[in-house]
Amino acid sequence: MNLTLKIWRQPDPVSEGALATYQVEDISEDMSFLEMLDVLNERLNSEGEEPIAFDSDCREGICGMCGLMINGDAHGPLRTTTCQLHMRTFKDGETITIEPWRSTAFPVLKDLCVDRRAFDRIIQQGGYVSVNTGAAPDAHAMPVPKAQADRAFDTATCIGCGACVASCPNGSASLFLGAKITHLGELPQGQAERDTRVVKMVAQHDHEGFGGCTNIGECAAACPKEIPLDVISQLNKDLRTAVRHGY
Ligand code: SF4
Ligand code: FES
Repeated sequence: MNLTLKIWRQPDPVSEGALATYQVEDISEDMSFLEMLDVLNERLNSEGEEPIAFDSDCREGICGMCGLMINGDAHGPLRTTTCQLHMRTFKDGETITIEPWRSTAFPVLKDLCVDRRAFDRIIQQGGYVSVNTGAAPDAHAMPVPKAQADRAFDTATCIGCGACVASCPNGSASLFLGAKITHLGELPQGQAERDTRVVKMVAQHDHEGFGGCTNIGECAAACPKEIPLDVISQLNKDLRTAVRHGY
């Protein structure tokens, strides 16, 4: 495949960025999108040009590092991570526009890399449970109904990629937040901090500059892990309960 790429280049967080155009040739349709960018970077390196900065780690759809806006869609046209997107999704001769996540709370560091530490700071406010240290408890000591265990497991699959934020016109992280609240709130181990967790995590979310949810639903449509929109209802329900309890 031969492709034209329009890629956002920005040398640092304060400089203005712009789209730069590159031609790539002989791209295999079996390559992942990141491998296609690797090919371009190898060429730029060999020509003494600055390679394009982009994030990746696992390249298996589990770490959440590889977020890119591809032709205006978070992670591209399929509901998957960029590392799991293959070039056969595109047509020979196509022009592809590649930009970083766009959100006030995710400032651009360089080119396609953004600072997503706002998510870490939200997690630090309550994305944990308190447990007694010591011998591991008996696995059957605390029974969890199957439906609750499934719901906790499904929502725990959120990889913190930020596609929900990048897709939301409000730049809201409510889907991410709802996934974390639901995951821990479904389990007996998550009850001790349930009220304080939601209050502190929502406060940090707002403090970081993420917007509010207005039920648009783009987040759930873009989420590569298919986190359902109703976790935001659970988030709001937990917040109302915590306020009723005086938190
Ligand atoms: S809710 Fe989905 S889109 Fe948002 S951070 Fe988690 S995995 Fe990514
Ligand atoms: S590189 Fe880890 S999810 Fe894509």
